[in-house]
Formats: sequence, C-alpha cells, structure tokens
Amino acid sequence: MELALTLDSDLAQPLHRQIYEQIRDRILSGQLARSQRLPPSRALAQSLQVSRATVSLSYDQLLSEGYLETRPGAGTFVAAQLPEALLQVEGHPSAPVLEAIPLRLSRYGQAIALAPPWQNQPAAPYNFRYGHPSLELFPLPLWKRLMAQEMSAHRRWMDYATDPLGYGPLREAIAQYLTRARAVTCHPDQIVITHGTQQALQLVTQLFIDPGEAIALENPGYLGAQRIFRSRGALLQPVPVDGDGLIVSALAQLQPIPKLIYVTPSHQFPTGALLSLPRRLQLLDWAQQHHCLILEDDYDGEFRYSSRPIPALQGLKANAPVLYLGTFAKVLFPGLHLGYAVVPTNLVQTFAQARWLSDRHCSLLDQAVLARFITEGHLERHLRRMRLCYDRRRQILMDALKANFGDRVTILGDSAGLHLVARLHSGLCDQAVVDRAAQAGVYLASLQDHNLQSCQGDFILGYSEVSEAQIETGIQRWAAALHRWPKTVIGQPVIDKKP
Ligand SMILES: Cc1ncc(COP(=O)(O)O)c(C=O)c1O
Repeated sequence: MELALTLDSDLAQPLHRQIYEQIRDRILSGQLARSQRLPPSRALAQSLQVSRATVSLSYDQLLSEGYLETRPGAGTFVAAQLPEALLQVEGHPSAPVLEAIPLRLSRYGQAIALAPPWQNQPAAPYNFRYGHPSLELFPLPLWKRLMAQEMSAHRRWMDYATDPLGYGPLREAIAQYLTRARAVTCHPDQIVITHGTQQALQLVTQLFIDPGEAIALENPGYLGAQRIFRSRGALLQPVPVDGDGLIVSALAQLQPIPKLIYVTPSHQFPTGALLSLPRRLQLLDWAQQHHCLILEDDYDGEFRYSSRPIPALQGLKANAPVLYLGTFAKVLFPGLHLGYAVVPTNLVQTFAQARWLSDRHCSLLDQAVLARFITEGHLERHLRRMRLCYDRRRQILMDALKANFGDRVTILGDSAGLHLVARLHSGLCDQAVVDRAAQAGVYLASLQDHNLQSCQGDFILGYSEVSEAQIETGIQRWAAALHRWPKTVIGQPVIDKKP
C-alpha cells in the first residue's frame, strides 16, 4: 500500500519524528484502520526519499508505544487494540452512577459518613482565619535552589523509601533541632516522619483505641483531633481548661481511666493558655500512675512572644509517658505536608509499621530538601523573622481590638502562636457576630466549633495572614458592623437568636 506523508527537511523537527507523528495521527483519527498493513520500511523510505534507518526509527517508536505490531513473515500492521483504549475505561463520563451494592460500612465508615463534611475556612478581604502561616515571607528562591540541587544529586528520591521511620538525615536534623529549641529528649531513631499531625493522631488512635475506649481531651479543644477520636468510636472525656491550661485535677473524676490524653500544652488550642509548670508535672505523674499515654500536640509552640519558649512536656522528666507531635505546617507552609512524631522507644517499630501500612512514606525529595533547610540554619533564621512579623501583627490586632471595643473585649491566649481569642460582650449570639462580620468582608470564627459544651462570646482571630493595614481596617469594620446590628447596641444583651 501507498502511504502519502508530507515531510519538510527545513523544519527543526527531525524527519523520523515527522513520520512518527503523521502515522500516529492517522491511526488515532481512524484514517489508518486497526489491523491495516503498513508498507515495508524499505518501500516507504523509497517513496519518501529518506533513508531506511529514518523510517525504521519511526516504526520502532510506534511499535514500542503499541500503535503498531509486527506479525512474523507478514509485515507491520496497525495494532488491533490501540494503547489509548487500554488507558481509558469503557462508558460515557456522564453515564449515571450505578449503586452497584448497598454499602455495608464498618462502624468507622459509618461514623465518617455521618460526620459533617470538613469545611475550609472561607477567604475574605479581611481574613482573620487561624492556623495558616504567612506565605509571602517564605524564602521560596532558596527552597527552589535546594530542591534543584537535591533533585539532580542522584535519583534515589524517585524510588520507594527503604526506611519506614523516614529519611535518616531529616530525622537527625529534627532530633537536634528539638533538643536545642524545644527541650525534647530524643534520639533520631525515635522520630517517625509523618504527613503531619493529623496522620500521626490517626495512627496512634488506631493503635491504642478500640471502640468504646476512653480518650481525655481538652475542652475547648482541637476539632481535627476530636473528629479522629470520634470516628474511631472512642469515648470522649472532655476536661475543662482555664488560664493555666488543662485543669489536671479534673482528671481524677474520669471514669473509666482514659488510655490517651490529648493536650496542647505550649499554646492550648484554641484558648491560647500555657500549661503551667506545676500542672505539667502533675499531669506527667497522673499519666504515669494510670498507665496513660499523653499525646502532646506542639503545633505552633515555636512562636512565643512574651517569654522564653517553655520546654516541651516530653522533655520534663526522664521516661515521660509522652508521644510528642510536631508539624511543619505552621513554621514553614501547610502544602509541604510534613510532620513528625517523637515516639516512646517501646512503641517506635509498631508506630513505624502502622505508618508504612497507611501510605508507606512521605516524598523523599521534600524530606531531603527539608533536612538541608534545617541543618544549614535556614529554619531557625526563618523562625526568627516570622516571630518578629507575627509579633507586630499581634500587637496591632490587640491595639485595634482595644481601640474599637474598649472594655467590652478581653483578650486571651495572646502570648504565643498565630491566633488569639477575643472574648466579646456584644449581647449577640456568636452566629450573628460572625455573620455581621462576614457581611463587612471580615472572616473570623467562633470558638463554639471547638467546644464540646456550649459557650458564648469567644472568637478566634488569626493574625498571621493579615497585613498591618488590613488588621486595623478589618477590626474597625467588624466593630462598625456590630454597632449597626438592628436589635441591639454592643453591651446590651438580647435574646439569643441562634438558628
Ligand atoms: C492544634 C492543632 N494541631 C494540629 C494541627 C494540624 O497539623 P497538620 O496540618 O500537620 O495535620 C492544627 C492545624 O491547624 C492544629 O490547630
């Protein structure tokens, strides 16, 4: 058969590539039918006036990609089944979804299905959302340079990891950093690299908790943790907090004795309280006596403004019954999705195996870049810079709150972290306060979402992502929106109209 192709030797594209593309296009468009015989390479070369090697190169490429096939003694043919067909599922994308079988979910599956979907905090012009670091000051050119260097140094990062604990140099870098900056007592072989605190909490809950078993947790407390515990069918035992953090004496009333206690001692989430030293010691003693494992979530303890960083609970006593959790989501950027657990030595191998079963390992390239970022001193330099930036924003926020709300506002938990709590005497229900703010372009959250009992009047304001000018204007707009509320003036209570 004849195959008329148009070749242009003036093009930058080599001739064999031109032949390859034209034959492939004709196969895909159906001009060359499946199983149709192609001219022998010598004949095609003659008709196109190119060398036979050029045509052979094109045919070989098409053969290797599955567009052509050879039949011994018969020649070269268009493949009976094209490679595209093998990569696509049959059927139309808009075909109705068939409910093939009734879902017989596990108790875990049912709990997940019944829970309200996870909601991202919305974007707003004046966005006081919490838990997100400022991204504009991150040293991206440096990160890119380290990444390019690590990428071209070798290709091991492209393969599966071999160490279920995580990339060795990163574990060493984290161990040194934690010993220096957080007074954590640890060996690199106790560190397991995770995809963040959420994954670590999920793993430890699976390892320790059967449905119905008890976990004590701060109230108010971190919703992400509450959801994991609840989905596992755990019995949640809320323990109140005050200005000194978890009220440890309240643990004595818990029945049954919890297997795990989840705490955020450096900066209680969300109230911001710092767990006092006497309570830390009391908590360690209680946990030791009752064979309870403490989960210490140190999510943003690096950012302390008014006093020196407090040593982690984990490092306060030898053999403290603590599993310490850290994340790079706040100190670097959440999309990196890396964190770590410092695991008691008798649990390390089990924890690492569970981690491996869950999703094997984190990106080796990201871990290698992060290891260099820490060992070359960039992490602590970045932390120093961000601490100054957040401290300025925090001060401006506190001044703006006082200027706009006067003695109707009390500020809590402002000595650390990336957010504070404004306790507001507005006389409005929380939802009304949040809605009014939203109408004025201001996003902030009520603390109610994190409370297992009802509470009123406390609002979480993150200050890490808002510029200094935005903070001042945002708070002015919020205050003005509350003053405009038709049924009340700030300070005069009205009936709660919560839906
Ligand atoms: C108290 C607390 N712990 C942990 C995390 C999440 O850490 P990660 O993103 O590493 O799962 C957050 C996130 O906002 C948090 O507020």
